[in-house]
Amino acid sequence: VLHILKTRQQLALFLQEQRPHLSSVGLVPTMGALHKGHLSLLSRSVEENGLTVCSIFVNPTQFNDPADLDRYPRPVESDIEKLRQTGCDALFMPAVGEIYPEEEKWHIELGELERIMEGKHRPGHYQGVTQIVKKLFDLVEPQRAYFGQKDYQQFLVIGKMVRLFSIPLELICCPTEREPDGLAMSSRNVHLSPREREEAGLLPEALFMAREAAQTLNPDEVRSKALELLASSPLITVEYLEIADARSLQPVKTWEQAGDIIVLAAIRLGQTRLIDNLFIKQS
Ligand code: PAJ
Repeated sequence: VLHILKTRQQLALFLQEQRPHLSSVGLVPTMGALHKGHLSLLSRSVEENGLTVCSIFVNPTQFNDPADLDRYPRPVESDIEKLRQTGCDALFMPAVGEIYPEEEKWHIELGELERIMEGKHRPGHYQGVTQIVKKLFDLVEPQRAYFGQKDYQQFLVIGKMVRLFSIPLELICCPTEREPDGLAMSSRNVHLSPREREEAGLLPEALFMAREAAQTLNPDEVRSKALELLASSPLITVEYLEIADARSLQPVKTWEQAGDIIVLAAIRLGQTRLIDNLFIKQS
């Protein structure tokens, strides 16, 4: 059965009761409006842990755009139904005041990771993300926490935080779930108009094309080709598209550079911002 916990105290009591009987606790942090991407993380956690906690919390401190926060979808009833079907054990869905009872200063030095791509285009976003994820880690004390490759830079940021605070848990990066046309599943996709939804398929198309073109062209040429494809849609504005070292996210000039290489992009389609990424070279 799914236990629905709305306060920190309910969560603490539940975990205190359960933990002695368990090998491990898995945590899947989300902002709700659950789709197959979220559910794949949950299934993996259910498989690997004695107990799985999902959190649904639309964290205000990570929204750099107030309009984005306002219209963020919150279909609670259908989320609960989906959680029941995945075998998730507990849903933690606190109110904002439960998590932020008072004004709070938070700053963590994330270095270069916060100055590029998502960090650069969404000022303060990763401060808010690390703030909430640190609180969730402290409240749940999971042995494993599951995140999606869809938000690859977020995964790296959380990895950095875990090392900085020496948090004793394992982070797991799960593959990006996609729609039939390749569009990465996202809670924000519901905002796309039918025409925007059609053009959105160009984003994954550009990334898959980049991976293909990497066989014959150098990184700069591949980048130009991908940008050209996105430019073919009058509805799309590109915020960034970078071919980067998968650890540092610094741009690469040659494929021979050490380590894995990833292509990452963010576009705007009307009012909606979409991000995606794909590994181009994996050792
Ligand atoms: P949210 O956007 O709800 O995503 C929750 C988790 O699901 C994240 O780890 C995200 O990477 C993963 N995810 C989203 N779309 C996915 C897809 N198509 N395939 C696989 N995984 C996908 O990311 C957040 O919430 C928040 O920043 C959070 C970490 C909860 C902190 O507030």
